[in-house]
This record gives sequence, C-alpha cells and structure tokens, in this order.
Amino acid sequence: MPYAPGQMPLVSRHVFVCTATACADRGAEDTYRALKKRVKNYPALSGVWVNRSGSVGGCEHGPMVVIYPEGVWYHSVSVERVDELIRRHLLENEVIEDWRFHQTEGCPCMRPVTIAPPF
Ligand code: FES
Repeated sequence: MPYAPGQMPLVSRHVFVCTATACADRGAEDTYRALKKRVKNYPALSGVWVNRSGSVGGCEHGPMVVIYPEGVWYHSVSVERVDELIRRHLLENEVIEDWRFHQTEGCPCMRPVTIAPPF
C-alpha cells in the first residue's frame, strides 16, 4: 500500500522473508504468505511489516527470515514454524536461540525519528 511522504504508520518490527532461489526451493514463498496473512489478521501485530527480500546470506539454511529492530536472522523457517515464530518472537519478544543463524546490533533506522518529506 503506497503512502504519502510523512504519512507512514508506525512500524514496530520489520520482517524480511528471503524468497530468492535457494530459499524459494525450500518453501520460502509459503512461509512468506503464511506469515503475511497471520500478521495481517492479528490486531496486536498491526505495527509489524512483512516483506519479501533477496538473499540475506544463509542460502543453504533457508527459508531465512530477518527481523528488525532486533537484527536477528532465523534459519529453516518453514511454514510449519510460522505460528511459533509469531508467538515467541513477535508476541513474547523472545529470540528463539535454536533457530538463530545470526544477529547484528539491530537497525538504527528503526529508531523513532522525524524526517521532513523531501518535497
Ligand atoms: S537465497 Fe535465501 S538467504 Fe540466500
């Protein structure tokens, strides 16, 4: 859904599902669609955005899912794991150690800032 400059809603978390070739071969498109549908239908997750991404570098361990602002990469996120990912990470704020592939310092772009529209 397109928004006008300066009109973007609050984004509390941004979830990227890699749907590039290696992850797609392991069912990433099903993971993406299930995650997108469940998050959309769950009012408590209204600030969570789910998008497809290109390769995030864990190609042999997909489907890979990256969640900001935590900066956590999860491996092997099959469609069967979507409900558990939502419950544990998105609702209970738990980093699921058994599935963690990588973690960064998180994304400073997720910190609240006010940016004037460019035009
Ligand atoms: S294809 Fe998904 S991480 Fe590379």
